[in-house]
Amino acid sequence: MILLAVHWSRIDDVLSKAGDLSGTVLVSCSLPMNDDDTGLVIAHTSSGAEQLAHRVPEARIVGAFNTVPSEVLFGVFVARQDRDRPSLVYYGDEPGAKRVTAGLIQDVGFDPVDAGPLRTARYAEPFALLVGQLAYEGKAAQRLLPIREVRARLDSKRSPR
Ligand SMILES: NC(=O)c1ccc[n+]([C@@H]2O[C@H](COP(=O)([O-])OP(=O)(O)OC[C@H]3O[C@@H](n4cnc5c(N)ncnc54)[C@H](OP(=O)(O)O)[C@@H]3O)[C@@H](O)[C@H]2O)c1
Repeated sequence: MILLAVHWSRIDDVLSKAGDLSGTVLVSCSLPMNDDDTGLVIAHTSSGAEQLAHRVPEARIVGAFNTVPSEVLFGVFVARQDRDRPSLVYYGDEPGAKRVTAGLIQDVGFDPVDAGPLRTARYAEPFALLVGQLAYEGKAAQRLLPIREVRARLDSKRSPR
């Protein structure tokens, strides 16, 4: 299994280095964002996940992990023994690949929710932008200040490429 988690503009570069992906479960959280992250370059009639499936038809594509801000992942993992787990959607066209992905989601600490076929990405990807808007921008983000602080700490530790 591979988790694809790079900016949309880097997808071709990363895939070109990935080698043979035949039969590999490729879980993608990458949103098809433009270069300055102000909007989706693919939406409504298709989605990033579906374009990815066209790009690497030999891989088994599943979409997941894009509907939550990454800053919550550590907390969810730490609290994974709790009875009430937060839900996380995943979507794809191949039952076996979805089972593997559901296992990963479970291991991270979420309750996996099967959201249907890969074309569900047409709804999940724009929804992920709403989550980003709420988490990082505007008045709602002020209530999520810890998330912004964690983000700032991570950014300050990241070395320049
Ligand atoms: N952050 C979120 O909350 C969130 C939510 C939903 C969806 N997503 C999606 O997740 C993806 C990643 O987002 P992010 O916030 O994690 O971005 P990020 O913080 O910028 O991290 C991107 C990662 O990609 C690596 N990378 C960049 N170019 C590469 C290349 N050419 N080859 C190999 N690795 C490369 C970077 O490595 P270095 O550290 O070495 O530079 C870094 O580890 C995006 O597509 C985004 O749309 C993120």
